[in-house]
Amino acid sequence: MKMWQGRFKKEADSSVNDFNSSISFDSRMYREDITGSMAHAEMLGKCGIIEKKESDAIIRELKNILDDIEKGNLSFSPDAEDIHMFVEQVLTERIGDTGKRLHTARSRNDQVALDIRMYIKNRIKDISKSTVNLLEIIWNKASENTDTVMPGYTHLQRAQPITFAHHLLAYAFMFSRDLERLWQTYDRCNVMPLGSGAIAGTTYPIDRLFVAEKLGFDSVTLNSIDGVSDRDFVLELSGNLTLLMMHLSRFSEEMILWCSGEFAFVELDDAFSTGSSIMPQKKNPDIAELVRGKTGRIYGNNTTLLTMMKSLPLAYNKDMQEDKEAIFDSIDNTIMCVDMFAKMLDTSTVQKDNMRRAAGKGFINATDCADYLVKKGLPFRTAYKIVGQLVAYCIDNNKTLETLTMEEYKNASEIFADDIYDSINLENCVSGRDIIGGPGKTSAKKQLDAVKSVIDKYKNI
Ligand code: ARG
Repeated sequence: MKMWQGRFKKEADSSVNDFNSSISFDSRMYREDITGSMAHAEMLGKCGIIEKKESDAIIRELKNILDDIEKGNLSFSPDAEDIHMFVEQVLTERIGDTGKRLHTARSRNDQVALDIRMYIKNRIKDISKSTVNLLEIIWNKASENTDTVMPGYTHLQRAQPITFAHHLLAYAFMFSRDLERLWQTYDRCNVMPLGSGAIAGTTYPIDRLFVAEKLGFDSVTLNSIDGVSDRDFVLELSGNLTLLMMHLSRFSEEMILWCSGEFAFVELDDAFSTGSSIMPQKKNPDIAELVRGKTGRIYGNNTTLLTMMKSLPLAYNKDMQEDKEAIFDSIDNTIMCVDMFAKMLDTSTVQKDNMRRAAGKGFINATDCADYLVKKGLPFRTAYKIVGQLVAYCIDNNKTLETLTMEEYKNASEIFADDIYDSINLENCVSGRDIIGGPGKTSAKKQLDAVKSVIDKYKNI
């Protein structure tokens, strides 16, 4: 028998319940739902809306229900319409009429808005924890590789010399911003909607600030329609996760490339790679590939949510029940991906010699060679052309800028002198780029410090 049965002459068709029910997925919010109800019941008692002893009885039994669920002594009934109805039903079965007083001055519309906000606040902490852990692993790898010279790429073509630390720190800054975005979203979730009722609040003298404080919210929503109508905070989190996964998918793609025989910059640990069913020699980067693949599903969930909310008239519409599976899936999969990727990265080995060897090919010091001429007085465009011709000469004669003789240099320009060899030495090229933001040593230290302070800020939050 449905709780809203009074108005109806017939029971809902069983297929309607199956179609309508969200208990199979929203039951995961049971803790938020029950603690939310406990705060609501306490407030009702405190404000004299229900008797204190009834409020106490409700709270006591809600606590028992929570314990029973956690101990596995109470399982969710698939017949229940949702977690909110389920808890209220069990409560009423157990304490009779007193249980029926819980829903005074409340609607499922503001109840569900409360539950999702509480749930998202909790899960942001989990995502943050995983992201901080990933950042720490990147930080450690970066600090071990501030001298590891590698080619920097543009268009996936060798471009200029950098260090592996510099490359890793680029990701560290991306994930740092992802963390900041997560906590900004947390702040906007931290507004308590209960008291909005179905749409127009309530005539009972409720104390919303008391409930907010009990449940750890900073403030309360100021418009009852807004309080029950919007899911922008769900979308914000979903959007944050698309960005985080976008970053992780790029890192994954690079790991996949780097552990190919063609690059051989990184070797994955056996425990974090997989074999082939037919090719005995294979060692595959499945984890990184799955992270790359799952990014698509996080984008898909985001589109689901945006489309679900598009053009919905105010206030609550049942469409909004569809927010849960999408955001739950994004949260679960993002955490899984970040954690797996972190372990894979942590256990991988950097092939420093191969990176250095690759840096020695591809003329990545050509810009430095041109800059040498500029520093001796030539206009940059003129220097650029001379070095372009030198590179062409090297390609034709199977040489590098390092192996050209002084005579060959002089043929290209009289300005070249013996100090050119120092100027195009890759280690010097990297250490010379020590401006703020560059791959040089002082800059690397500054970057490591900056990332460390992000880690410290969010580590024990
Ligand atoms: N299961 C619903 C949801 O997830 C709860 C709110 C239902 N409210 C209502 N009036 N039908 O959105």
